Amino acid sequence: MTTGLLHTHLASTAIVIILYAIVMYLYRSQKGANKTSTTIHMILRVFLVIMLFSGIGIYVSAMDYISSLDNGHMEYGIKALLGILTIGFVEMSLVSAKKQRKIVNIMMIIFIVILLATIVLGSYLDMGTLNFF
Ligand code: HEM
Repeated sequence: MTTGLLHTHLASTAIVIILYAIVMYLYRSQKGANKTSTTIHMILRVFLVIMLFSGIGIYVSAMDYISSLDNGHMEYGIKALLGILTIGFVEMSLVSAKKQRKIVNIMMIIFIVILLATIVLGSYLDMGTLNFF
């Protein structure tokens, strides 16, 4: 079960990044929302929910393994927290682009930093397929 969830989680990571880039580009270039950007944003939200539930699923189904690690449970806790923050900043940065707020650039930078930290920690941890570190 954990393997299937890990595959779903990793594939959704790629989809989230692609859809985020498209929606951000549309909101910024069209100075707000239209039907296309709103629809793609809704699809992106479905994948954010998939990220959340697959992440929680991995965590819960691997609970025995995680609690058997010396410091592992702490690293997994931080991974979950970073994942939730990433999801939050996807929404906050896209909504500030949609509403043409000046803070959008700062939001985007925070999003990118937190996203990278989430991916780096996700690949550093043992269970998944990514293994950069
Ligand atoms: C948009 C948000 C998120 C992104 C971009 C993200 C990204 C990733 C990536 C790239 C991996 C490595 C997968 C692999 O190596 O196959 C991973 C693993 C994982 N993620 Fe997430 N994640 C997010 C949200 C979450 C959330 C919300 C949770 C939990 C509540 C979570 C929990 C986990 C767990 C437990 C792992 C397994 C780590 C391991 O390989 O041992 N993630 N995530």
